Amino acid sequence: MKKPGLIYFDNAATSYPKPPATLEACKYFTNKVGANPGRSGHRLSVEAGRILYDARASVAELFNIEDPLQIIFTYNATYALNMALFGLLNPGDHVITSSIEHNSIARPLRHLESQGVELTRISVDSKTCQIDPCDFKKAIKPNTKLIAILHGSNVTGAILPVAEIGKITREDNVLFLVDSAQTAGVYPIDVEAMNIDLLAFTGHKSLFGIQGTGGLYVREGVNVRPLIRGGTGSKSEEDIQPDFMPDCLESGTPNTPGLTALTAGVKFVLAEGILKIRSHEEALIKQLVDGLSAIDGVNLIGDMTLDCRLPVVSFNVSGLLSSEVGQILDEKYDIMIRVGLHCAPWAHQTMGTYPKGTVRVSLSYLNKSDEVKYFLNAVNEISEKRRT
Ligand SMILES: Cc1ncc(COP(=O)(O)O)c(C=O)c1O
Repeated sequence: MKKPGLIYFDNAATSYPKPPATLEACKYFTNKVGANPGRSGHRLSVEAGRILYDARASVAELFNIEDPLQIIFTYNATYALNMALFGLLNPGDHVITSSIEHNSIARPLRHLESQGVELTRISVDSKTCQIDPCDFKKAIKPNTKLIAILHGSNVTGAILPVAEIGKITREDNVLFLVDSAQTAGVYPIDVEAMNIDLLAFTGHKSLFGIQGTGGLYVREGVNVRPLIRGGTGSKSEEDIQPDFMPDCLESGTPNTPGLTALTAGVKFVLAEGILKIRSHEEALIKQLVDGLSAIDGVNLIGDMTLDCRLPVVSFNVSGLLSSEVGQILDEKYDIMIRVGLHCAPWAHQTMGTYPKGTVRVSLSYLNKSDEVKYFLNAVNEISEKRRT
């Protein structure tokens, strides 16, 4: 079978390639603007500030956020999640999460638990990877401050019922933090309709920005303590952190070249439209899932129903370690996928694939059907060889 060139199916880790506009935007900022936003009064600094505001406005449009200044930029989703969790929770507070979290939520919460925060994990069904929103309702107690969950699993591709859980948080006056690392750019997110109080996002995955970008939306009136202080151009006369958004939570020089690229990525997503992006990815996922299901010796993990999943599929090939499959795909077929636990041991414990992990394929809007076809042929050959 003719090889379509190097195949990159590791988009859940970071997307590659990027739309050309992303790289052009980054180059434009670096070559033509270059200045530090919000620091100096000269025109290049003002232009950098305008570019930064454009980044906030684009992200706000994508997530239906009314005030772009309620968005702060960070270097990735992990940083945003840590800011939210450490900035909100105190000893004695109760927080509820799920059993399939990425370690960007799992580790800070385990640490906070050791400092006196009470933690409840709601179990996800080990076959379907679905969760019952009523379980969150039942777990709420008088000291429950926060529900913190991912929107989409980076292991199984399952999407959690965020809107339903958001409704519960509103009824019970509990804050709601959503990790959209895998869903932003591929699945509709509306902070108003979903009652999301804090939304952590990453720039370098399906928003098609570059690495070193991400952010956190904080609903007006929600008080998040800063993790880091100083380094803002505003209120220079004071030695205390400004108390207004975004400056109170955004310290130090931002990654403005990266955020210029992120704006281009988000504008690309907005111009294409989430529905078109989803429908292309659904077609690829259907081809992938149908093809993998037909290969003898391939065990798919989780729920394969098309209307509730991301372009992320985990599987194992009987008789082979996931690392062996990954190595053959890389060395023999030029196909880049990810193997192991995907920074999510809780998810693998839940799905029964711990500690061995899985082979994970994650597609992007820029992947093509002939790449999936070539990949399926490769897995078929690997599986056949194992049997002979
Ligand atoms: C569900 C989930 N949350 C958080 C993260 C962390 O994202 P970042 O690399 O931007 O910190 C990832 C990355 O893979 C993820 O899949």
